[in-house]
Amino acid sequence: MTAGIDLGHPQAQAIRSDEDVVRVRQLVRAVAVAVKLSLVDQTKVVTAASELARNTLVYGGGGTVEVTTVDNGRRRGVQIVFVDSGPGIADLDLAFTDGYTTGGGLGLGLSGARRLVDEFQIETSAETGTRITVTKWSR
Ligand SMILES: Nc1ncnc2c1ncn2[C@@H]1O[C@H](COP(=O)(O)OP(=O)(O)OP(=O)(O)O)[C@@H](O)[C@H]1O
Ligand SMILES: [Mg+2]
Repeated sequence: MTAGIDLGHPQAQAIRSDEDVVRVRQLVRAVAVAVKLSLVDQTKVVTAASELARNTLVYGGGGTVEVTTVDNGRRRGVQIVFVDSGPGIADLDLAFTDGYTTGGGLGLGLSGARRLVDEFQIETSAETGTRITVTKWSR
């Protein structure tokens, strides 16, 4: 499934079901191993990806993810882009507040994910939905 993964190209995965969220975890783990993240950093980026994939599914109405290796000349890393065309996030400050949820969750997914990665970028609007890009670098 993730054996023989071609790191030269972004790996795309639909997010439409719980099984897809599991696949996202496996894909991110495989790429994190390939770019030689430590075991702790592998777990951090997999956990972040899992939370963001679940949000894409639950609030975004499903979407897609792309997992890519990145290289800044000094380090390699894993970059993950989540895209949905759902309702967007009206108040980002609120959404990143620990404990804030509109879905009966713990309200810790977004804030936790941001803490677990090195770079976190979010673009969201009611018209286009939500696009989140995260990067974790080897150290
Ligand atoms: N892709 C998205 N599209 C629209 N709204 C979103 C999206 N992701 C998050 N949100 C909004 O941001 C809120 C906070 O998200 P967060 O992941 O922090 O908490 P949660 O999913 O409600 O609970 P938890 O992740 O702890 O189970 C969500 O309740 C939802 O209202
Ligand atoms: Mg969540």
